[in-house]
Amino acid sequence: MSNGIDLKGRSLLTLSDLSDEEIAWLLDVALELKRDKHAGTCAQRLVGRHIALVFEKMSTRTRCAAAVAAADEGGRTEYLAATEIHLGKKESVADTARVLGRMFDGILFRGYRQETVELLAEFSGVPVWNGLTDLSHPTQALADLMTIKERFGDLAGRKVVYAGDGRNNVATSLMLGCAISGMDFVNCTPDSLRPADDLIKHANQVAVERGGTVRVCSDPGEAVQGAHVVYTDVWTSMGEEDQFKARVELLQPYQVNMDLMQATGNLESDNVIFLHCLPAFHDHRTEVTQKSGPLEVTDDVFEAPFSKVFDQAENRLHTIKALFVSSLERD
Ligand code: CP
Ligand code: NVA
Repeated sequence: MSNGIDLKGRSLLTLSDLSDEEIAWLLDVALELKRDKHAGTCAQRLVGRHIALVFEKMSTRTRCAAAVAAADEGGRTEYLAATEIHLGKKESVADTARVLGRMFDGILFRGYRQETVELLAEFSGVPVWNGLTDLSHPTQALADLMTIKERFGDLAGRKVVYAGDGRNNVATSLMLGCAISGMDFVNCTPDSLRPADDLIKHANQVAVERGGTVRVCSDPGEAVQGAHVVYTDVWTSMGEEDQFKARVELLQPYQVNMDLMQATGNLESDNVIFLHCLPAFHDHRTEVTQKSGPLEVTDDVFEAPFSKVFDQAENRLHTIKALFVSSLERD
């Protein structure tokens, strides 16, 4: 699985750490690993490899994807909740990184500050993967691109519209992933939630070089016309819970419902899918939504045949496995 590309020992702190060829190659590796897993023919490429899962924030998919990915290939993971280790409290992040690097072959980090994942990479001496920070969610973007590729084949030329909180970790990583893949990406968000101008400019430059475009738009009906993918995420990310009420008011017009899916013009021809990184507020069955009801997506969209959210969730496993194997596999 090399094809001239070598990711041995490499970290993934933001999606910019990967070239377009490397992303395309990782997606192919993940698709191959998925076929192997479904056929019951996983190899044992991570035997003797130990991966630390250092998590400051909650997680279902990222944590489980990492644990199962490593185990499938004969490797081991150790879950280290940040509340139960000394990270940044009795010990600097740099010191914890140096200790982990003496014991583990790689570190997957989920937390708040991008600086923490950068320090882990700088001081541990082993590959570090960003499993979500306030700034970015690159492993999610890989699974998103894989899911689009599974459905449509080529990524270049497809139109992806993200509707909601346009400056969050998922939106901005997806924006860059789509740009690198030569897609047409629209970040549909109110002016107050636009990503930084330099980020938009950079993503658009990257996209244009590859035959795509990136733009920001505040009108959902206009944004989704011709979309092949409609994507949303929660309106308040982990750590922003105090902004919940204001966000619900601000982002209501950006809810992904059947009217918005119809406005793509691609529903009847079965040429559009719905994606969400999950967890999603699509019904009344959570503590948060028992009073408010659905938020960023309605239940009929979430449960529709064109919703590929559980394929997307499964693809977290195959893409994280592709990263682990490509970084840690022995010659
Ligand atoms: N999409 C995602 O990162 O899910 P978790 O928060 O469950 O890991
Ligand atoms: N933007 C969300 C993604 C969760 C997977 C958050 O950061 O909470």
